[in-house]
Amino acid sequence: MSDASAVVEARNLPPQVKEIVFRETEILRRVRELGERISRDYARRDLMMVGILKGAAPFVCDLARRVTRPVLLDFISVTSYSPTPRRGSVRILKDLEEDVTDRHVLVVEDIVDTGLTLNYLLNLLRARSPASLQVCTLLDRPELRLVELPIRYTGFRVSQEFLIGYGLDYREEHRNLPFIATMRLELEGVD
Ligand code: IMP
Ligand code: MG
Repeated sequence: MSDASAVVEARNLPPQVKEIVFRETEILRRVRELGERISRDYARRDLMMVGILKGAAPFVCDLARRVTRPVLLDFISVTSYSPTPRRGSVRILKDLEEDVTDRHVLVVEDIVDTGLTLNYLLNLLRARSPASLQVCTLLDRPELRLVELPIRYTGFRVSQEFLIGYGLDYREEHRNLPFIATMRLELEGVD
C-alpha cells in the first residue's frame, strides 16, 4: 500500500476498528495466489464455486476473478454467527440455484471457526452427490475447532480475536471495510 492510501485509510477508520490485521493489498495478493493454485488444480475440471452468504461474498467474487477457468458461481445462505455462537443452530436461509450433482464443487467461506457451519453445509452438499467437494476459506481459526474438516485452501490462519471487514461483520456492520481488523468489542458493551 502506498503511504498516501494508508493515510486515507487511517483517517476513515470507524471507532470500532482496533488494529488492522490484513490490509487490502495483502488480502488481494493472497487471493491471487489462491486463484492461481485453484486454476492449476481444476485445469481439467469444470469448477462450481459456492459462496456462503453473506460473509464470503467479497472473497468469492475476488477469488473467482482470479481463476483462469470458467467458473459457475452460486451462493447459499445459512444462519449467521451471532456474537455468541449458537451451536448446532445452522439453518438454510437461501439454497443454491444450481444443481451440484456430478459437479466439482468448491465451497468458499470467509472464516472457519468452530467448523459447525461448514460441517453442516458439507454434509448437506455431499448428500447431493457432487463429483468432488473441497473447501477454500480465507481465514482459519483452528484453535476453536469443534469438528474436524477437510480444508484444501486457506488464506490466513488467525488467532481468537473477533474480526471485522472484507465481508466479516459484527451484527451486520463493517462488512464493507476493505481490510480485516480486530474490533473494540467494549464499544458495543461486550466484555
Ligand atoms: P463456525 O460455525 O463457528 O465455524 O462459524 C463460522 C461463521 O461464523 C463464519 O462464517 C462467520 O460468519 C462467523 N464468524 C466466526 N468468527 C468470526 C469473526 O471473528 N468475525 C465475524 N464473523 C465470524
Ligand atoms: Mg459466514
